[in-house]
Amino acid sequence: MRITVIGSGYVGLVTGACLAEYGNQVVCLDLDAEKVAQLQQGNVHIYEPGLEELIRRNMQAGRLHFTADIGASVAHGTIQFIAVGTPADEDGSADLQYVLAAASNIGRYLNEYKVIVNKSTVPVGTADLVKQAVQAQLDLRQQRSSFSVVSNPEFLKEGAAVDDFMRPDRIVIGTEDETAKDLMQAIYAPLVRNHDRILSMDLRSAELTKYAANAMLATRISFMNELANLSEVLGADIELVRKGIGSDPRIGYHFLYPGVGYGGSCFPKDVQALQQTAMQFGEPLKILQAVHDVNRLQKNILLNKIMAHFGSDLRGLHFAVWGLAFKPDTDDLREAPSLVLIEGLLACGATVAAHDPVANDKAAQYFAGRAGLQFTELPMQALEQANALVIVTEWKAFRSPDFASIKKSLRSAIIFDGRNLYEPKRMKAEEISYYPIGREQILPHSSPALVVQSTAVAY
Ligand code: UDX
Repeated sequence: MRITVIGSGYVGLVTGACLAEYGNQVVCLDLDAEKVAQLQQGNVHIYEPGLEELIRRNMQAGRLHFTADIGASVAHGTIQFIAVGTPADEDGSADLQYVLAAASNIGRYLNEYKVIVNKSTVPVGTADLVKQAVQAQLDLRQQRSSFSVVSNPEFLKEGAAVDDFMRPDRIVIGTEDETAKDLMQAIYAPLVRNHDRILSMDLRSAELTKYAANAMLATRISFMNELANLSEVLGADIELVRKGIGSDPRIGYHFLYPGVGYGGSCFPKDVQALQQTAMQFGEPLKILQAVHDVNRLQKNILLNKIMAHFGSDLRGLHFAVWGLAFKPDTDDLREAPSLVLIEGLLACGATVAAHDPVANDKAAQYFAGRAGLQFTELPMQALEQANALVIVTEWKAFRSPDFASIKKSLRSAIIFDGRNLYEPKRMKAEEISYYPIGREQILPHSSPALVVQSTAVAY
């Protein structure tokens, strides 16, 4: 099948490369000529395991092409995927300018039947706006070509995107048009072999499904974070509670990990965008508001614990931070809890040495020109002369460190662990003061027990 993917960002590249891998002829469009030139050389600007190799292989096989030529790319595909960004507006609602510009561009060059597929996460009702934008261009040109609009949300996780695409749990196809439905099923059938995983529905239900999935997952995380904070006050262990409830198949083990709050390009944005839609329709979701508020507070949890231990004036103190990306296996810093932590530490007068296996460069750009912050190539280098180690991202390389070396490098043996990587008992045996999330704290011999609430701190 001939496929065009508009937008060579994260979702567009994964979609284009994976569909090419299944034998389709794919053209990926991007208006950024420099990005296209790099991609044509096989240079991929995002870090995603397996993606660059997949792109190169399919380019060599002649099935995957990159272009900045709108007319040629619209002419190419019977299916036109729109996979452009939908950044949050100031009020948190999704900014549709790129989606609608892509729709207008399709309308400007459309001269035969095409299926236009929304892959970007867009508010309920966007399919109608896309239809109008395409039709407006056709009317201008007095062109009578027909087209269908489909909602086909993506459920990729960063760090596992290629695998998620190739082995989907489900493929949601929202359309009211039988021809479009058949074409979409034909594209995806090879990925799922049988059709059980393809769920066809109306456009609005498909659009809402994407937001509902992310909002449900975000809700689980915020609920677990609140339970973790409660566990600390009660003297319960959230890890035992997590296993205790996860073993109920109605609950399940996934997405029950407490931590430093969810980040990334999807959850924070989608939770807010869904709330905006709900408010526009006069049905604000009270639960979703709480999910968002809890997450905002949870991003301060490490700083609050640090301040409870050291006091609120951190001048003269130096901290090692392990992990900058919002989660492992990505260099993505969007909405990363590490940014909130580092901003807070610097604002309170501390200095910071941070290490991330892949996100150091991006973080250095983000914090460019900020005094008191350095990045180290190796995790152990960050510890030198630090008053404490603070763990923000659960990279595998941090899970089994040499605690003797950690103690030797740190000025005082203290770990604030935002991801519960270590067993409190082990920390006790190692004589390390240990502050996990929702678990027993191992305190310096003389200190009284600390109870840290996830209240926002003023800085
Ligand atoms: C998410 C959805 O999982 C995916 O289906 C959708 O297409 C895009 O948004 P992603 O943003 O890549 O994917 O990351 P994900 O693995 O879902 O993690 C999101 C955030 O939640 C991270 O900050 C992570 O640290 C946090 N998280 C996740 C927790 O704090 N606890 C958990 O138990 C799981």
